[in-house]
Amino acid sequence: QSPVTKPQSTSTAIIEIDNPASVKRQLAQLFDLSLRATVPDEPDVVPLIDACAVKGGVKFGDYQCNNAMGIWSKMKGKQTGFRGPPAIGQAIVNNLPPSEMIDSCSVAGPGFVNVVLSKKWIAESLQRMLIDGINSWAPRLPVKRALIDFSSPNIAKEMHVGHLRSTIIGDTLARMLEFSRVECVIRRNHVGDWGTQFGMLITNLFEKFPNPDDVSEADIGDLQAFYKASKVRFDSDPEFKLRAQQAVVRLQSGEIKYRKAWKQICDVSRAEFDKVYQRLGVQLEERGESFYNPYIPGVLEKLDNLGLIEESDGARVIYVEGVDIPLIAVKRDGGYNYFTTDLASLWYRLNEEKLEWIVYVTDIGQQQHFDMLFKAYRRAGWLPKDENAYPKCTHIGFGLVLGEDGKRFRTRSSEVVRLVDLLDEAKRRCKIAILERDTAKDWSEEEIEKTSEAIGYGAVKYADLKINRLTNYTFNFDQMLNDKGNTAVYLLYAHARICSIIRKSGKDIEEVKRNGKIVLDHEDERALGLHLLQFPEVYEEACTYLLPNFLCEYLYNLAEIFTKKFYANCQVVGSPEETSRLLLCEATVTVMRHCFYLLGIEPVYRL
Ligand code: ARG
Repeated sequence: QSPVTKPQSTSTAIIEIDNPASVKRQLAQLFDLSLRATVPDEPDVVPLIDACAVKGGVKFGDYQCNNAMGIWSKMKGKQTGFRGPPAIGQAIVNNLPPSEMIDSCSVAGPGFVNVVLSKKWIAESLQRMLIDGINSWAPRLPVKRALIDFSSPNIAKEMHVGHLRSTIIGDTLARMLEFSRVECVIRRNHVGDWGTQFGMLITNLFEKFPNPDDVSEADIGDLQAFYKASKVRFDSDPEFKLRAQQAVVRLQSGEIKYRKAWKQICDVSRAEFDKVYQRLGVQLEERGESFYNPYIPGVLEKLDNLGLIEESDGARVIYVEGVDIPLIAVKRDGGYNYFTTDLASLWYRLNEEKLEWIVYVTDIGQQQHFDMLFKAYRRAGWLPKDENAYPKCTHIGFGLVLGEDGKRFRTRSSEVVRLVDLLDEAKRRCKIAILERDTAKDWSEEEIEKTSEAIGYGAVKYADLKINRLTNYTFNFDQMLNDKGNTAVYLLYAHARICSIIRKSGKDIEEVKRNGKIVLDHEDERALGLHLLQFPEVYEEACTYLLPNFLCEYLYNLAEIFTKKFYANCQVVGSPEETSRLLLCEATVTVMRHCFYLLGIEPVYRL
């Protein structure tokens, strides 16, 4: 499968956001006033504001307003009095209301309006954030109750790297929604705890332990191996297969002995999943597929009453717009499937849990499944016809995890990789690197453990999150643990180094915050200050497209600007500008830590 990347600029925003801290938005407000005055007869013109890119090593401003050209082509032929786009650009400048934000404006080329922000305003805005805290930059999403359905491995089958991706991305999305002032964010683990696989597992279990009370966790042991063994029996022994199929029926009809065995198998699986969640620091609320079983008949009946269910080849199906094949709600043998459960769980989420936004995080292979599910709901009138209206459902897809050979990620013996082993390996490698450092001898055992975990698990997460989730990604320890590349290791080291600059000054940073003042006279101080202030607009992009890679790119650039520009050219400790520069260091670590938090990475303070 080839990677699928949507060009980001053309994909549409998933959600609108109210984001008053964004510099871009604040400028848009000013330019909106100017545009009203410049072209009063064109009320539909919306301000087009962008951060300036560096062209040929120079930047003509911090931001630009790109409306003049569009207005000109729209108004050509009308009597306007403007002689061309540059004249419109100049009029836009002249009509700008006075503002503390802007230092100067100029018109360039075919009519771009370049804006240079006031360094005093940048400094004061940063200082305010330091005093009020980073939450004062939080935007607001138009929903109060949201659910992220993520991780969701299948019991007794394997929890594979795809589930790891879902876990990492889903956790970050949940954190982003929380930061965006969604009051209730449910992190839901929709585990596959109900399916025909249990028939063969239980049958195999009963062969070894006729009395389920005799079974202990240790007996089931390695569930993956147990699953495999059961599968071999199922595929090769027709008599076993028959008993397995009967076991499914007996389990579904609620027979105590079968229920008990089912629960035991689930518990073993859960313990294994929890080891992964515990290492990653991810919180999830489990509500497996089995939970929705009692709701299935009612939901099917409602859909039937609405005339959505048709007979096809003995199965009961639902046709949806634009898809040739129907979704199968009830199989020919009367059994339910993955779709049936999702029909019921979505009903429950909308009607019982009263959720306004439901986000499903799975690989892109399941895109059609969710597309059909949402379409069926729209047909039933259970979701609004307008896809952007609430309540709303969104499928967030991601690409495959590949090994270095470019194929699906597997171990050498072509087994599915055990996730716990994978995470432990990342930690082990980080520990070796830490022990090689001189400073390690002053560290306690606990500090070494904690730091290895923060860096190791952080590196696994960051490697996944830094690429556009829609693309496939190659799992490579050497790359993700490289301390010089765009990795969590590099970023965590950079953070620790800035913390140590602040410590070395011997100043009480809270005291400096209260009494000091940021001044951005040096161009590299200004560049750092501006980048810090751009966090809200980058965050907005990450949030409206649900693309955490924007945050990673921002964070990496922040570390680069700090290290290669600011710190390379502006002495901090012992300089006349020490107070201001310490505040810039503090603002940098504040924003960095917030990015780490959103990405689920534990910061490191000392190295
Ligand atoms: N268990 C599924 C899998 O492993 C993912 C479940 C996603 N959530 C849902 N509501 N279908 O592919």
